[in-house]
Amino acid sequence: MTAPRTPKVSYGGDYNPEQWPEPVWDEDHRLFTRAGIDTLTVGVFSWSLTQPAENTYDFAILDRILDRAAAEGRRVCLATGTAALPPWLAKKYPDVNRTDFEGRRHRYGQRHNFCPSSPAYRRLSTQMAGRIAERYARHPALLAWHINNEYGGLCYCELCADAFREWLREKYATLDALNDAWCTTFWSHRYTDWTEIEPPNALTEHWRGPDHTAFQGTTLDYFRFTTDALLGCFLAEKEVIRAQDPDAPVTTNFMGMFRPLDYHRWAPHLDFASWDSYPPLDAPPTWPSLAHDLMRGLKDGAPFWLMEQTPSTTACREVNPLRRPGELRLATFQAVAHGADAALYFQMRASRGACEKYHGAVIGHAGRDDTRVFREVAEIGRELELLGDASLGARTPARTALVFDWDSWWALEISDGPSRLVRYQDTVHAYYRAAREAGADVDVIPQTADLAPYDVVIAPALHMIKGDLAARLEAAAGRGATVLSTFLSGRVDEHDRAFLTDVPGPLAPLMGIRVDEWDSRARDFVQPVRMGELTSDARLVFEIVLPRGAEPVGTYGADFYAGTPAVTRNKYGKGEGWYVATALDQPGVNEVVRRILTRHDLIGPYADQPAVETATRVAPDGTALLFLLNHAPEPARLTAHATATDLLTDKRVEQGDPLTLDPLGTAILRIQQSGINRSAAHVRPAHRTSGRSSC
Ligand code: GLA
Ligand code: ZN
Repeated sequence: MTAPRTPKVSYGGDYNPEQWPEPVWDEDHRLFTRAGIDTLTVGVFSWSLTQPAENTYDFAILDRILDRAAAEGRRVCLATGTAALPPWLAKKYPDVNRTDFEGRRHRYGQRHNFCPSSPAYRRLSTQMAGRIAERYARHPALLAWHINNEYGGLCYCELCADAFREWLREKYATLDALNDAWCTTFWSHRYTDWTEIEPPNALTEHWRGPDHTAFQGTTLDYFRFTTDALLGCFLAEKEVIRAQDPDAPVTTNFMGMFRPLDYHRWAPHLDFASWDSYPPLDAPPTWPSLAHDLMRGLKDGAPFWLMEQTPSTTACREVNPLRRPGELRLATFQAVAHGADAALYFQMRASRGACEKYHGAVIGHAGRDDTRVFREVAEIGRELELLGDASLGARTPARTALVFDWDSWWALEISDGPSRLVRYQDTVHAYYRAAREAGADVDVIPQTADLAPYDVVIAPALHMIKGDLAARLEAAAGRGATVLSTFLSGRVDEHDRAFLTDVPGPLAPLMGIRVDEWDSRARDFVQPVRMGELTSDARLVFEIVLPRGAEPVGTYGADFYAGTPAVTRNKYGKGEGWYVATALDQPGVNEVVRRILTRHDLIGPYADQPAVETATRVAPDGTALLFLLNHAPEPARLTAHATATDLLTDKRVEQGDPLTLDPLGTAILRIQQSGINRSAAHVRPAHRTSGRSSC
């Protein structure tokens, strides 16, 4: 099953009219129509209204909200509403409240804080999902199911401790296997009974917060257990929905690069992926695009939904800057460019009270339609109307893959040594950014993905190597692909046990190197790395590389290892293995990545325009769309690389014509087939997508 079929990019967002008087709803719908809003996410936080007591259900208000939406011709993404508990439930069944990292049992408050192992939570949330599904499965407004909201967080209660022990029994079968996996002969931890095992937290294995554990193997398993425990909650709700409704697709809103949950373990169970984009302040544009591509990669490249973004400002941060004029439009088309078939907001109308009353909304407290934000939202609505179905179901024909692995992320960041300063997201993002700014479309894939479609496979900070991954990377290089990995890769197996071989472990033959030593230094320490003409600054970790067949591409410039390789290239079969032994600055990473992309003719036609992002989507009928996104506040002057029509203006450009993008401007070029010769990489449908249209 895929994302819902709709005639155009779905447009709208979270709508909580239960928070204001019903006469205001008339005004809401009048304004929605003005803004081209066709989709409303409803019921995300209405549990205390729909079930005011254990044996009392009351759907009157949801009935009215859905009936009104249907009458207005709008579709509803209907939430089960199980992410925020009603007070009576937490009081009656205290075990639904989480126990935190310090071992404190919480009391009623907030949201997103139920214990995933609580039988009361499981029973009552599943019953609620079942009731909602039974009532609304055949409702004309229903478009999709939205289970819970932003699952996440850990619990350390006794129920979770027991559930963890059960999970471990299933995984390891015997204590011998568990003791072996966790290396428990270290510090006298040999377990002789399952009940001796404690969840790893501040009272047990952790000594300075969640990332400092005495036993990485234990903590990793707790992260995996939590991922599965919350997934169990999702699956229980999904099952009861499916019993009532075999058709409407089911999702839950993810959070992009969210460390606590391994979304790859969830992906097979979603009908389509959706996520909430709130990029960190001052993040470069490649940060949200990396998250979009990660979310697209969850369902093998199928389109996802942008479930939430703010139309203007967040409220939860220390300071909450406004999106400047034009930034919302750019972010919206960026999402569509990366595979979004829906663009939804949090929120349609601002809450009157509580902690999100200053969060941006399409309609503010005064209910006006003459605000800048409303005008921008309405203008985007008009353009999405214009775009129609052109991008729906379209896939990204990427020939470059970036391997993203939650286990490696966790293992790297809970490791004592070599350096606490290396951050997985930063390392991955630097390589992703280099490829994207060079104009390559990138699929962000799990380590289990089929590598056959790719000419370039980038696997930064792949700390943990599992299963047959090394063999598959070798096979990719053998047939001609280039595989790149970096420092702190190939260090540990799936249990976080060091490989008893040379570093980088199973990657060593492909990389043609051996690493015997590594140094890590403070953030401000810089080591020069020379690569041809370029000298790049390297930081944080410096692995000392002995070539074993590989040739140096860059060398360290100082210290006792001056002159030894910092970047290497190894011929392997028809392809190559590249290894970057230190955290190069962005120009250094760009240099390495551009050399690799050049080898495969994957540098894009606008790669000399650093502020212009390009992204390709190929529609199910084979039509190629090239999105051009100008992230600069100045116009971008390009020369069209192909003959094309801009779907937003209906203007045609011939190959070689000047093409100007406004400041923060977007063009969506439908490429004429006759004009594709110069940049086949950017318009040809990928072999992996043919015959697998998602609609
Ligand atoms: C999340 C939640 C929403 C809301 C927004 C505010 O994405 O899902 O309910 O709290 O954040 O940014
Ligand atoms: Zn618990």
